[in-house]
Amino acid sequence: MPFPPDPIAAVIHPDPYPYYADLVASKPIYRDETLGLWVASSAAMVRAVLTSDICRVRPLKEPIPKALLGSPAATIFGHLVRWNDGEQHGPCKQAVQACMQSIEERSTAELGHKWARFLLGESQPQTASRLQDFAFHLPVYVIASLLGVPQEELHHTAVWVSEYVSGLAPSSPPSQVKQGKIASRHLLDLFRALSRRLQAGLDQSLLASLAWEAKRAGCEEAEVIVANGIGFLSQAYEATAGLIGNTVVTLASHRNVREQVAADPRLLRLVIEEVLRYDPPEQNTRRTLLRMDMLLVKPCKRATVFLSFWQPQIVIHRSTRTLSDSTYKGRTGVCLPSVLVPTPVQAKRLLL
Ligand code: HEM
Repeated sequence: MPFPPDPIAAVIHPDPYPYYADLVASKPIYRDETLGLWVASSAAMVRAVLTSDICRVRPLKEPIPKALLGSPAATIFGHLVRWNDGEQHGPCKQAVQACMQSIEERSTAELGHKWARFLLGESQPQTASRLQDFAFHLPVYVIASLLGVPQEELHHTAVWVSEYVSGLAPSSPPSQVKQGKIASRHLLDLFRALSRRLQAGLDQSLLASLAWEAKRAGCEEAEVIVANGIGFLSQAYEATAGLIGNTVVTLASHRNVREQVAADPRLLRLVIEEVLRYDPPEQNTRRTLLRMDMLLVKPCKRATVFLSFWQPQIVIHRSTRTLSDSTYKGRTGVCLPSVLVPTPVQAKRLLL
């Protein structure tokens, strides 16, 4: 199979891993003139970029994408710890990280089971588009439930998150950006209302924990809590859908594994771990250089964008471990990729 033409095209290639391995071996860091990006691919280079003080998540001059400015989508984006570096975001990042750790301790698996059953619909035929809806809606249904979104609002929330996320990409057409802004307004209204209800102090939701942890860390701004509550949904959305999809593809293409999982559904967790190692749903991320500098022996121009690869040996699964370890003290926090994958029973129903 021919290699993909470049690292961006690689993410939709059926098997990009020989190409990534070749990049790692031949050019662990290089400038791709066609893309106009530096590409870091080896573990050492990726780590160096992610932990460098001069590599930031957004360009200094454009902290919020221009297309979103003046809209509710900008209000959310501007407060997200995912899209901000810098000292002032430290307390909220700390709060988000504390809450991420608590997600696994909550009734996440139970909720996953409940909403997966609901979304799959016992009596309806399973088609590719239903599988797609399932994969994208399940993360939102579960995380939104944890955040305290009422059951009757879950469907709308999933649609709004989808529209909000679709409007963020630099390549999104104006109609999608517009729809994303409308959806952002709905999400803000919903989360502001939830946030006002927290005042009563009886709430045990993930949003209440976020507010509490943020207060403890020294951040009491309601809009920051609201935005990062929505941020849990947007972060979980595509990556978890991708993980569900890649797990389904793996099972569908490995009969032997599928039969073993069918015989003992507890094995599914191990399969998911292997999917995270060998076919992760997130394969790259970007950083912007703050100033012209030497980064790993390469002189790099100011504002050059890096595309950093999670190559198979340190794919997301492992790198998420490093996200919380002390060597990874850059801006990124903890993330728990496998928390929402289908339970064995649902996987059986999806596949067999
Ligand atoms: C319950 C589902 C998930 C939630 C709530 C979640 C939440 C988050 C949050 C809040 C961040 C930002 C952390 C920070 O900047 O301090 C983050 C980053 C990240 N997440 Fe997740 N996540 C989920 C699932 C996943 C999955 C399934 C993957 C892929 C396997 C993934 C991969 C990543 C990566 C690579 C980053 C760092 C991106 C960067 O800094 O460039 N996440 N996630």
